[in-house]
Amino acid sequence: MPNRTPLTRFLIEAERAGQITPELRLLIEVVARACKSIANEVRKGALGGVLGDAGTGNVQGEAQKKLDVLSNEILLEANAWGGHLAGIASEELDEPHAIPDAYPKGNFLLLFDPLDGSSNIDVNVSVGTIFSVLRCPDGVARPEARHFLQPGTAQVAAGYTVYGPSTVLVLTVGHGTHCFTLDRDTGSFILTRRDIRIPEDTAEYAINASNARHWDAPVRAYVEELQAGRTGPRGHDFNMRWVASMVADVHRIMTRGGIFLYPVDAKCRAQGGRLRLMYEANPMAFLVEQAGGAASTGTQRLLDVQPTGLHQRVPVALGSKNEVAAYERHLREA
Ligand code: F6P
Repeated sequence: MPNRTPLTRFLIEAERAGQITPELRLLIEVVARACKSIANEVRKGALGGVLGDAGTGNVQGEAQKKLDVLSNEILLEANAWGGHLAGIASEELDEPHAIPDAYPKGNFLLLFDPLDGSSNIDVNVSVGTIFSVLRCPDGVARPEARHFLQPGTAQVAAGYTVYGPSTVLVLTVGHGTHCFTLDRDTGSFILTRRDIRIPEDTAEYAINASNARHWDAPVRAYVEELQAGRTGPRGHDFNMRWVASMVADVHRIMTRGGIFLYPVDAKCRAQGGRLRLMYEANPMAFLVEQAGGAASTGTQRLLDVQPTGLHQRVPVALGSKNEVAAYERHLREA
């Protein structure tokens, strides 16, 4: 078919334009290939025997699903031998995963949440993969956890997939955010939206409202303003959506705007928040900013947060620029 741009062509053109190196191109191709394998496993559902608990727990103390474990293995295996990576960190692993000695090492660090939204696996609702790419500091042959602790501004690429009615890959290498849809007939990701722009204003928000009693007063005041709709201070109605898969909620915002909130509250204060900085917040913040949106902790730009731990959690507010600013104003004025 003429005029279709497969991911491979998109990346070669980005390389020719000097936006990425051949090594980074290979890295993204390998991650995309692994995501296709994960998409196949997700699609099999109960027929593939992949549903249900794995009977193990991850470093966060959360019960792992069989698909969490399988997706992690697929990504680790695919990225071990290409020679493009110095190290890998996964939300499912306590410590960074070393590249086996048998293989050459590259200059990049890859971080991923292999299967985001795992509470949705067994109920056949969209899940996805999130990844982030950093440079390995010069002179470091065997990266340790501290070498991954770079702020989000240091990311050279980030992306997510959604395994939904169609499988999509949303990617940035720092030159806009672009969406590819998996063509199951040819097995290629095809560019379907170049240069996504998130609308600056919105009338839709996403938050787990069952936590309302745990929220701090300024968060509650902000959400109550939205809920008051046209009779309240905002003067118009707001719609609410919560999929409980960050990839799906963010993808909706990439498509039609909105604000996604996971604030720190009394329930998760001791951990610093609910979502992981390195595997969820930073890559999504990079993608959202590259699409003209904003991403904040509520009090600080997310990409400026200096990480202190590989599995650190943070409060997250991201999406339509003006709405994120309105949320930040509430927290500031409080
Ligand atoms: O951290 C994983 C995650 O499943 C996100 O994908 C999602 O946004 C959030 O947690 C859902 O949280 P809750 O269980 O509070 O709805």
